[in-house]
Amino acid sequence: MTYRITIICENSVGPITGALGEHGFAALIEPSDGAPLLFDTGQGLTLLHNARRMNRDLSLVKKVVISHGHYDHTGGLKPLLVEFGAKQVLGHPGMFRSRYRLKDTGECYPISFTSSRDELEAAGASFDLSKEFRAIAPGMFLTGEIPRVTGFEIGDQGLYCDSAGKELDTTDDDQSLVLETAKGLVLILGCCHAGLVNTVEHVAYMTGRRDIYAVIGGTHLGFCSRVQLEKTIILLRTIGVEKLAVSHCTGFAASARLMQEFPKEFQTAMVGYTLEV
Ligand SMILES: [Fe+2]
Ligand SMILES: [Fe+2]
Repeated sequence: MTYRITIICENSVGPITGALGEHGFAALIEPSDGAPLLFDTGQGLTLLHNARRMNRDLSLVKKVVISHGHYDHTGGLKPLLVEFGAKQVLGHPGMFRSRYRLKDTGECYPISFTSSRDELEAAGASFDLSKEFRAIAPGMFLTGEIPRVTGFEIGDQGLYCDSAGKELDTTDDDQSLVLETAKGLVLILGCCHAGLVNTVEHVAYMTGRRDIYAVIGGTHLGFCSRVQLEKTIILLRTIGVEKLAVSHCTGFAASARLMQEFPKEFQTAMVGYTLEV
């Protein structure tokens, strides 16, 4: 099986006439055989528009994967359902919980789903939720909940389950997508709140493979410690990743560091980035 992977929503935009950026992430996965799958949906402002600008037909999508329940990955689900009708939606049972970002300034923003589960079901979503690692198509896997085993991947310390900032949100609903290809595994991340080392170790444990050819998507390194960034660089070097196409919550500083360390492998997975593998 081969795949064409296209970034549809992201903070930045490549040279495509009329495409738009938003803080968010969505990737379209088109297998050589079978229906395309959408991994995340952005905030909802750019998904349908950008797909049209890039001639990607979202009406063919049968399954949508939600990496975790943050607004910048889930907001496009309602417009997608309204435009194209019923879809199966795969995710984690914890993804609908309330959650907030508390900034250093004391400001508090709600960052959960912008539509309720009932509203999405009424619009045609059929939810298939699981915490487990599972195959969702031949050669395509969802990681399920990722055990947090490293001491340095403590998560984003600005995320809370309550607006008072009493209960830290570990974002345990975070999961990533794994594709088996002839060149090795391709790992597609939403925000990777679990940390890339935890994620790769879980994938290696579940698949018995560490030959990760490509890592694509948000790493959340822009919100994590310097130690985590340096340990992640060691991991990426150890597994010999050949395509490092990160973006979204990776941020400029961590991206610059990764580009310096991996000059041949590094690319920015902005709107329009396409990998055929
Ligand atoms: Fe995000
Ligand atoms: Fe997130």
